[in-house]
Amino acid sequence: MLPKRSDFPADFQFGVATSSYQIEGHSFGGAGPTHWDTFAATPGNVVRAENGAVACDHYHRWEEDLDLIANAGFDIYRFSTSWARVMPEGRGPVNREGLDFYDRLVDGMLERGLKPALTLYHWELPAPLADKGGWRNRDIASWFADFTQVIADRLGDRIWSAAPINEPWCVSWLSHFLGHHAPGLRDIRATAHAMHHVLLAHGKSTRVMRAHGMKNLGAVCNLEYPIPADDSPEAAAAADLYDAYYNRFFVEGIFKGRYPEQVMEAFAPHMPHNWEDDFALIGEKLDWLGLNYYTCKRIAPTEGPWPAHHEVDGPLPKTAMGWEIYPEGLYQFLTRLSREYTGDLPLYVTENGMAAPDVVEDGKVEDPHRIAYYSEHLAAVQRAIAEGTPVKGYIGWSLMDNYEWALGYEKRFGLVHVDFDSLQRTPKASYLAWKDALGSRG
Ligand code: FCB
Repeated sequence: MLPKRSDFPADFQFGVATSSYQIEGHSFGGAGPTHWDTFAATPGNVVRAENGAVACDHYHRWEEDLDLIANAGFDIYRFSTSWARVMPEGRGPVNREGLDFYDRLVDGMLERGLKPALTLYHWELPAPLADKGGWRNRDIASWFADFTQVIADRLGDRIWSAAPINEPWCVSWLSHFLGHHAPGLRDIRATAHAMHHVLLAHGKSTRVMRAHGMKNLGAVCNLEYPIPADDSPEAAAAADLYDAYYNRFFVEGIFKGRYPEQVMEAFAPHMPHNWEDDFALIGEKLDWLGLNYYTCKRIAPTEGPWPAHHEVDGPLPKTAMGWEIYPEGLYQFLTRLSREYTGDLPLYVTENGMAAPDVVEDGKVEDPHRIAYYSEHLAAVQRAIAEGTPVKGYIGWSLMDNYEWALGYEKRFGLVHVDFDSLQRTPKASYLAWKDALGSRG
């Protein structure tokens, strides 16, 4: 059972999230090529080399999808705009058709009483910008500011909240150090540059939106709860380092104007010139912080070059991603963020959810595991609120099954099942549980 809307403060809001490349169908409507298309077309990067060419065909079925969100009683829809759809070259000419699509989409949300929560960049970098070095190139901050201006001019008057970039850690570390996401690099220098530039771009974009008069501006960071693999001081240090480059780097940059020392020990020779001068921009005032939370990781030291640690298997039940289910981590992060970084600033859970191998049987999808996952994490949010943490909303990932990046269409996170052949949508039991819990909108 999910807790009811009435079990939360009266101003608490609920939503669901998606992102453009994962649902829209990037082959439609004049969108330009992205670095995800390139990455997926290169053998070994993505399961079955799947890409977002069709995805959920949301580009054509958006009305049905917005109806699903509104009919469940959600308040907020967190969506993203594709840079490559709006500016196929990444710079210069605007694809009117792409901009018109987002214009219709935002109006469609408002007509249904949904609050549009915009993310400007959820990973589909235009390929021509990847050719110029993408996130490694300092100029990306200006390119992104120009894209922000185009979006602000067209949508800014109707957006409820906006965040420039989804998950700086994934954009930089996951994609430039681990090579798991586009552009698939494994290079410490590229990583140090990308980690700094992603924050620079965040700051510039925020400044553009603020100057435009847009309100309710925030940032969305993904945090993962590190647990030392054993009781040794070495494991504690390994987990602390993981925490430093994964969790602290971005919030310290934004809210404290510095980077963690443990990270700089390795990054110092690789940082872009004069990076210390950028913190005024990086620290642009925000109205909220969003936290994407899924799991914990067990960290043990290893021999070898920095960061000299690895993940080990843990004992808790796991989702189809192999991620341990650890709601305690969400409680810990919410209370810690507010205590150490954000104070009274509103916090939002901007993503949380689980993948499972859901199947349609007799027109139904039974996913009790997902209902349990949501209830346990909502209980963690309630605990944080009870202690005075200003958590103002909870947004589940995801509205519907979609393109799960390097794992293709195999990992189903949706409240709504999608048949990727017929593209038929089938609300799962978890969708109905949310509908029941939310009732009519507050
Ligand atoms: C997050 C991403 C989102 C989705 C979920 C499962 O890191 O923001 O696009 O892939 O993980």
